[in-house]
Parts: sequence; structure tokens; C-alpha cells
Amino acid sequence: MTVPASTGVTAEEAATSTRLHTLKKSNGMEVTVTNYGAIITSILTADRDGNLEDVALGHRTAAEYIAASEKPYFGAVVGRFGNRIAEGTFTLDGETYTLATNNGDNHLHGGNVGFDKVIWDVKSVSDQSIHLTYVAKDMEEGYPGNLRVSVTYTLTDENQLIVDYAATTDKATPVNLTQHTYFNLAGEGNGTVLDHEVMLNADRFTPVDSGLIPTGELRSVKDTPFDFTSPKAIGRDIETENEQLALGKGYDHNWVLNKGVNATELTLAAVVYDPATGRVLTVSTTEPGVQFYTGNFLTGTLTGKSGKTYSHRGGFCLETQHFPDSPNQPEFPSTILSPGETYESQTIFAFSAR
Ligand code: GLA
Repeated sequence: MTVPASTGVTAEEAATSTRLHTLKKSNGMEVTVTNYGAIITSILTADRDGNLEDVALGHRTAAEYIAASEKPYFGAVVGRFGNRIAEGTFTLDGETYTLATNNGDNHLHGGNVGFDKVIWDVKSVSDQSIHLTYVAKDMEEGYPGNLRVSVTYTLTDENQLIVDYAATTDKATPVNLTQHTYFNLAGEGNGTVLDHEVMLNADRFTPVDSGLIPTGELRSVKDTPFDFTSPKAIGRDIETENEQLALGKGYDHNWVLNKGVNATELTLAAVVYDPATGRVLTVSTTEPGVQFYTGNFLTGTLTGKSGKTYSHRGGFCLETQHFPDSPNQPEFPSTILSPGETYESQTIFAFSAR
């Protein structure tokens, strides 16, 4: 089966059918979301002195995301299948499906027009939460089944941003949804994140080949630059001579969270601390893995919402998810959603300062 041509949204369409919604707390914390790509366009949060700053990279409006010269998935919900599928193909129930190869020989982040580039419906919105839905058609971007998907962003009094995903389908299909916000806890555009200290609750990661497809091995991080079991500055080992770092041009790998790979309970994934401002981001998830990406493809050519340029490694992503290429790796926890089942996934981004 071939991939049907997909059309993205024009800047004109975006201007008329998208808008911004802001979740607010009395302490000043704010999260702004557009229904284009369910993108989080900004996150205002306090540093140790109570100063609010926007810690999410991105643009102001949907039209600006569309017009941008590069589209590194800033703030978006990524799907139908976040991360890579080898050679853009998989077989399910005896049928072979062909997807766009939009990342070298491989399929990345749902294809040419993934969930990050479509207009979502806003079903409800308040100061606390926004509920967005999207219906991906059968064979949209080459995937089987009409998939009804929703994402709810909720901002709590404890400065937690709770992201709840749900999906149902009428044909078996792979589903792997994630949130692709790039954080810089010193404020968007304020230099690199190399001084940020990261702890990842993961003793193993999934090493990759030259196309960033997992080899299938779950490798121990011990005695490697991939060991973030104790807090460590992102920049400490990132330039170390290491085959996996070279392949990722830095960190761009999936860590296997410390829980049963098929476990679905909410567990700690990561803690990130910016020593300069004291801001802390704590990430918990029901997912088995997290792609820790250090903005290796940012080059300083993109200018963000406040006019600052986004430098190489000017942001990091913690994309909670199932492991890359799961549809082709029977040993990995399954990403197949069948009719009658409900896909459910939760990730919490909690903000504090010390
Ligand atoms: C993910 C991928 C990276 C890159 C970014 C967006 O993190 O793993 O290789 O595609 O998204 O640029």
C-alpha cells in the first residue's frame, strides 16, 4: 500500500481556524496552547527568586510555526507514532504498510503531516485545563484505522502540567504519542542547556544504528556517557568519544525507565535542575521509555517568539514514549492498539525551584 498525499495547513487556514488558550494559576504560572498541533507555545514558571520566565522554545502563533524555516516539532503532540519506524514499513495482521520515509531511510514522528501539523478541535477549555481531539483517517499517512485521539493539558495548584492522552481505533494500528516541548530552564533563547543537571531514572538505554533505529539491545548505562542515574550536567560527557554519541550527534536516544517494560503505573522518569536559576523540572510517566534529546539539530538559524535565536543545544526534550521502531521489534513492549481497546497514557511535567 502506498502513502496517500497529505496536505498540511496553510498559514491562512491557521489564521482563521486556530487560536491560543492560556491556562493560568494565581501564582503566575501559565501554559499557553494552540489547537494547531496541540502545541504548547509557552510555559511561564518561577525561578528561585519568584521571577517568571518562559521555559519552552517556540513561536507565538500557529501561522508562525507554519512559516518557520525549520520545524523541529517545538511543543507539539507527536503521532500517530512518535519516533522512528525502520524503513517506513511494518507488517500487522499479515498486511504490510508503507509510511513516508521522512528521516533518511526511516519514518519519523508520524510522517509528512503528523499530529503536530494538523488542526485539533478544542472540546473544552478553562483556566485549569484544555481538552483537544483529532480524528486521523484510515490510511492517513499510511497508517491503518480511523484513530480518535485526545490530549488534555491540566495545570494544577502544585505547578504540575498533566498531559493525558487517549485513543481508540476501528482497525489495529500502532500508536505512540508524545509531547515534544524543548525546555530551557534558564528561559527560551537564553543560551545552551549544557549546564543543566539531569537525572534519568533508567539503568538501560536502547543503542541505535546509523539511522537511529534501535538495535534491539537494552544496554546498561553503567560506565558510559549515558549514565544519568545520578544528576549530571548535560555537557559533562556529551563530547566524549563514543560510538552512540557520535550516531546521535549528542544525546538522542531512548532510555528504558526503571520499571517492568510492560508496567503502566506512573513512575519518575527524570529530574532536571538549572543551577543558574534554580528551576527544577520533574517528569513522571506511565510510559516505559523516554527519548532524551539535547537539541543537537538546532543550529542557531531559528529565531523564537521573543526574537532570540535558538542555539545548538539551546533546549532539551524528554519525550516519554514506547521504544522507537516497536512495530518491527517483537521483543519491545507492544504499541498496537486494537478495536475495542483504549490507549491511555499520562505524563506529568512538574515545575519547582530551589
Ligand atoms: C526527536 C528525534 C530527533 C529529532 C528531533 C526533532 O528527538 O529523535 O532525532 O528528529 O525529534 O528534530
